[in-house]
Amino acid sequence: MNPVYADFFAGGAGAERTLRDNLAAYDRLRIVPRVLRATGDRDLRTTLFGTELAAPILVAPTAFHLLAHPGGEAATARGVAAAGTVMVVSMAATQPVERIAEAGGPWWFQLYPQPDPAFTAGLVKRVEAAGCRALVVTVDSPVFGRRERDLRNGFTDLPDGLACENMRDDTGRVRDIEMDPALGWDRIGWLRGITGLPILVKGILHPADARLAVGHGVDGVIVSNHGGRQLDGAIATIDALPAVAEAVGGRVPVLVDGGIRRGTDVLIALARGAAAVLVGRPVLDALSTAGADGVRDQLRTLAADLDHVMALAGAKRPADLSPDMVAVAG
Ligand code: FNR
Repeated sequence: MNPVYADFFAGGAGAERTLRDNLAAYDRLRIVPRVLRATGDRDLRTTLFGTELAAPILVAPTAFHLLAHPGGEAATARGVAAAGTVMVVSMAATQPVERIAEAGGPWWFQLYPQPDPAFTAGLVKRVEAAGCRALVVTVDSPVFGRRERDLRNGFTDLPDGLACENMRDDTGRVRDIEMDPALGWDRIGWLRGITGLPILVKGILHPADARLAVGHGVDGVIVSNHGGRQLDGAIATIDALPAVAEAVGGRVPVLVDGGIRRGTDVLIALARGAAAVLVGRPVLDALSTAGADGVRDQLRTLAADLDHVMALAGAKRPADLSPDMVAVAG
């Protein structure tokens, strides 16, 4: 892959402390297994908003898949559908949602509400018509993170011929995605008023915000620091998860992403209160090396790894995992 694009995919903000800590935080945790719980025939199936997933592992929204593979987001979507899970399509996708939807699997759409409400509302209607099953509103990006690798590389724009295809307005012009520093909770209420789709907020780290989110009627909370690409120095997501899960108290599903690479990472996240996890960069790596089949195999391998470690930890299904099964390494 072009090293400039590889840096865009792999990199984080600032000194990349949060990027590293998302992974390192899992190294600080240990599993306290249960035994003799007869865990033959594990069942990883998980239902979210009426959609059944083969395993509690979704694909996080990531930008610009055409930079990773000529099949772009449509190839990712075929791999995700074959693996039996949900793809969250990024607002910065390089193919139109109608094309991505042709893969036939369930998908959600990630939204940065734009300062222009008419454009945002039009986009919501468009993704609804294309078959989107939930909206994921990213709330950790009032401004862009400072990605120093991209600044050094001079990577500011997509190459000629590529565009954020879902940002086309009525005239066919592609609008820039605007980060809106004026975004507030009122906009969640506004969205609620224009769509019947489930609404998740992505980028919650503080338990007080999790409480506010539930109070504003969201249908799900995603604990995320944007894979370390926004506020460098932000808490690792697996460290933030327990307090958020406690604040939400089971009223809506809590999901988490950031640094999830192995079955044990998924297991720890589920034990700490996540209903499911999302993976970002591993899917991009698989897409760039092996296209749709790579994405399918990568997701299946992660689910098989989860199944294996659940057997070893004494869990037949995700609900058998609980916070007491995770300890901080001494
Ligand atoms: C992202 N992420 C992201 N999030 C979002 O809400 N909208 C977006 O367009 C993007 N774009 C994006 C591009 C790239 C290259 C990466 C790596 C990440 C964040 C993503 O959804 C998720 O939070 C993290 O990627 C999860 O961390 P891991 O699994 O990559 O460690």
